[in-house]
Amino acid sequence: MTVPDKIRREVEDLRRQIERHNYLYYTLDRPEIQDEEYDRLLRRLADLEKSHPDLATPDSPTARVGAPPRKDFGAVRHTIPMLSLGNVFNEDEALEFDRRLKRLLNPPNEIDYVVEPKLDGLGVELVYERGSLVLGSTRGDGTVGEDITANIRTVRSIPLRLGALSRREGAELKVPDRIEIRGEILMFKEEFLALNARRVEAGEPPFANPRNAAAGSLRQLDPGVTASRHLDGFFYTVGDLSNHGPDNQWDLLSYLSSLGLKVNHLRRRCLGMDDALAFYDELLQLRDDLPYEIDGMVIKVSRFDQHEVLGTSSRSPKWAVAYKFPSQQVESVINDITAQVGRTGVITPVAELQPVKVGGVTVSRATLHNQDEIDRKDVRIGDMVIVQRAGDVIPEVVDVLVNRRTGKEIPYTIPDICPECGAHVIRPEGEAAHRCTNMACPAQVKERIFHFASRGGMDIEGLGRKTISQLVDGALVKDPADLYRLKEDQVLSLNLFADRSAKKLLEAIGGTRGRPWSRFIFALGIPLVGRFVSKVLADRFRTLAELKDATVDQMVATYNIGPGIAESVRAFFDEERNVRVAGKLYSYIKPEIPEGHRGTDLAGKIFVLTGTLANLTREEAKERIESLGGRVTSSVSSRTDYLVAGADPGSKLPRAKELGVTLLDEGDFLILLGEG
Ligand code: IVH
Repeated sequence: MTVPDKIRREVEDLRRQIERHNYLYYTLDRPEIQDEEYDRLLRRLADLEKSHPDLATPDSPTARVGAPPRKDFGAVRHTIPMLSLGNVFNEDEALEFDRRLKRLLNPPNEIDYVVEPKLDGLGVELVYERGSLVLGSTRGDGTVGEDITANIRTVRSIPLRLGALSRREGAELKVPDRIEIRGEILMFKEEFLALNARRVEAGEPPFANPRNAAAGSLRQLDPGVTASRHLDGFFYTVGDLSNHGPDNQWDLLSYLSSLGLKVNHLRRRCLGMDDALAFYDELLQLRDDLPYEIDGMVIKVSRFDQHEVLGTSSRSPKWAVAYKFPSQQVESVINDITAQVGRTGVITPVAELQPVKVGGVTVSRATLHNQDEIDRKDVRIGDMVIVQRAGDVIPEVVDVLVNRRTGKEIPYTIPDICPECGAHVIRPEGEAAHRCTNMACPAQVKERIFHFASRGGMDIEGLGRKTISQLVDGALVKDPADLYRLKEDQVLSLNLFADRSAKKLLEAIGGTRGRPWSRFIFALGIPLVGRFVSKVLADRFRTLAELKDATVDQMVATYNIGPGIAESVRAFFDEERNVRVAGKLYSYIKPEIPEGHRGTDLAGKIFVLTGTLANLTREEAKERIESLGGRVTSSVSSRTDYLVAGADPGSKLPRAKELGVTLLDEGDFLILLGEG
């Protein structure tokens, strides 16, 4: 059956449009259309390909998922071996590297280096023939890797055809007949945390770090699983350097980017090693805030003719070296294991460690997650362990050094009596967590009040953990509602406060009157109800009476509320005590319930706020953004859509510039909010 030309053209046009939007969304992080519009294009293309099977091709954007699982991976011999890198660990070694090269190259000036982050992922090679992705493989031993083409296709930021953007814009980019592109596949930290949370909930062991998660996901026999893991990647070189246009690394990176590949923004051209060492300090500062993990930087001689002169040793090129960061994993000893009771009664086992410095921060406690994790890793008191800190994540014990045991180590089980209040501890069926069953447990009470008073909740200045502890231990407060009945002399009796600060605390508590309804809901501390869910509930249920009587069915019928959340809200209000406390709080605070809501113009947009705004507080700016469907995060990443910069913006501004994030001053921001 022949396919009408009109259809053929439409299919081709749809593919180009979709590839372009893929590139804008996944590679540049700068989408131009809404998700619904994108889905419409993709659906139309899939429909046409279904009714005209002749038109389906393996590089069509519809072909990313759906490849059948396989039994094993085929072997791929790399045309040109994939080398590894030599390491240096300090400035002296880096300077020695530079001196050696200068002896060999005898350059008139400093050496032209390109410095890139060393991405902590997995090396891969992509082969494109006549612009289409035909093969993806792992590095393997450098000579032979595994054929992971079907899995590579599921990585959205990897183009199935090269040059998607430039084609649409008329300037036909000349793509080479065959090109082998090399880079690193990795998992973003956010994705890693979400994946591990899902695994723990499903009773599966979590991955130790994003790198292992990426490796496990890339080597899945079922590409459907890989697709669900949302991998990403950056590309930095080609197999045969002499075969393509650019004659140096700096231009090669721009060239790869122009082909449509994702190239890391944090690259720097450095004239001489001193420049490179200065960049090391910058990268080390940035490390924790980056949305993916890096474990050092790679210093590369830029000019390819100089690569020729320098050559390679058996395993690594002489023209490049990795300057490693201090490890985020260190060894320590577990002095004790304690059980920490959270606001909802969940008991988390915590390792009390011999304090150690990890990546510049002293760590003396690390989470052991839950009993299953303790058992799986066989963690015992007295064990030598590996402690890991990654970015802003809570430190955790990742491994036990079993061969360092002396025989004196003591196994640990979460007690069946709450260490704080002596109530029974249970492990509800199907859950990984142990819980204290006593709602009045002082540890729970303190955590609940802390949550109530926290930033996203009622934001009560001066009400930190220490004060709360005194108030609870002094029997002045047993639930958040008691805060509103505190008298000045009672607060003064705690000996924690001078007159003025006692007064200030009571003023701050009184100042919560009229706080927004959604924040009121958040402050209640209902399990699974975070800030976002609070907003959704606040929009749908407009008073406390409506919310406390909402049925599971009503809640589930609300967009973004799943059965787990609905049941948790229902269970919370089925508890008479909670209804009583919430009712009292409602009458003291009289939360402000906004009229209707204003739509979701900023749906899905990610904002970072920095510096001081003249017309709004941070919290107010955040509320406006969220009320329009946007999100505010604390650190700038390549996924950030806007950086709102007030006065004295600090280090986030240069970072945002470096990452190409759209910058807004206060005026632009107000206009965007529809208030300028
Ligand atoms: S260049 C011949 N650049 O590190 C040089 N490698 O330890 C080839 N890696 O196998 C590598 N980030 O998987 C290069 N910006 C970067 C890198 C990088 C991470 C990995 C790569 C390589 C390994 C060597």
